[in-house]
Amino acid sequence: MQVFQDTHSLKTALSPEYCAGSTIGFVPTMGALHAGHAALMGRAASENAVSVASIFVNPTQFGPKEDLAKYPRTLEADLEICKAQGITHVFCPNEAVMYPEGRLTHELLFGLRNLDKVLCGASRPGHFNGVVQVVGKLFNIVQPTHAYFGEKDFQQLTILRTLVAELFFPVEIVACAIVREEDGLAMSSRNRYLQPEERVQALFLSRCLQQAQAMAKEGLPVEALHAMVSELLKAYPLARLDYFDVRGSHRLEGMATLQAELQPRAFVAAFLGSTRLIDNAPLLG
Ligand code: PAJ
Repeated sequence: MQVFQDTHSLKTALSPEYCAGSTIGFVPTMGALHAGHAALMGRAASENAVSVASIFVNPTQFGPKEDLAKYPRTLEADLEICKAQGITHVFCPNEAVMYPEGRLTHELLFGLRNLDKVLCGASRPGHFNGVVQVVGKLFNIVQPTHAYFGEKDFQQLTILRTLVAELFFPVEIVACAIVREEDGLAMSSRNRYLQPEERVQALFLSRCLQQAQAMAKEGLPVEALHAMVSELLKAYPLARLDYFDVRGSHRLEGMATLQAELQPRAFVAAFLGSTRLIDNAPLLG
């Protein structure tokens, strides 16, 4: 496994001279790697002769009051995980490499067809613009044939699929299932912020999705799912709901009654103390 900090040496290593004829699988991350990231990497490594992981805590996707400064940085352990998964190239640039022109904030905005106005986009204005900026840059540097993203960040996956389709990026997006702890909590780099009792009550998110799935299968309306969430919250006093919402999988459109053709999913975000966690699950199937 080779590690690169600058674009020039990475581009040379990935050039046709060295990688002609291979597919290139790419896994962008912000580090603080866990089994969810490892699953994406294992898949990229097994499906492509060349597999690239990036580790970069992207400042432009953090709001001014968010956790950019304290976001966990665990490079040595991360490199071990990349290696164990069979990744061939790791790119860990610094901010000057990724934003030589300075941080792009409002100068480069994407419309994103309003997919960035709902769910996490409503709570984190500008977040998805930052994601699209950095992923666009990374795609242009790495030029992968396949890029692997987790369904854990389902809205991010939907927005990136739209970006790739509409801007004709020559890359296939591969969606990977959510990896969970044994008790159901979706793995996240932010789980390490949780105090022991917050960790216990973080199960609110997966529990409410499980109940929503059960109710959806019984044919109950979306309104009943919202009522269930309000009721369930009472058992988790440390959890503060940011949103619970039911939307279609492709265009994230809302619905009052479940419409199977839209592939409805339940999305939830909640704070445990100052830690914001997200999760989602398909409702019918
Ligand atoms: P990060 O949060 O580090 O996640 C990197 C990738 O790992 C994303 O595709 C995410 O969906 C996936 N992932 C995280 N937890 C997962 C889990 N429990 N199961 C399955 N996949 C999981 O997402 C980002 O970084 C950034 O926004 C990035 C795309 C790198 C742009 O900066």
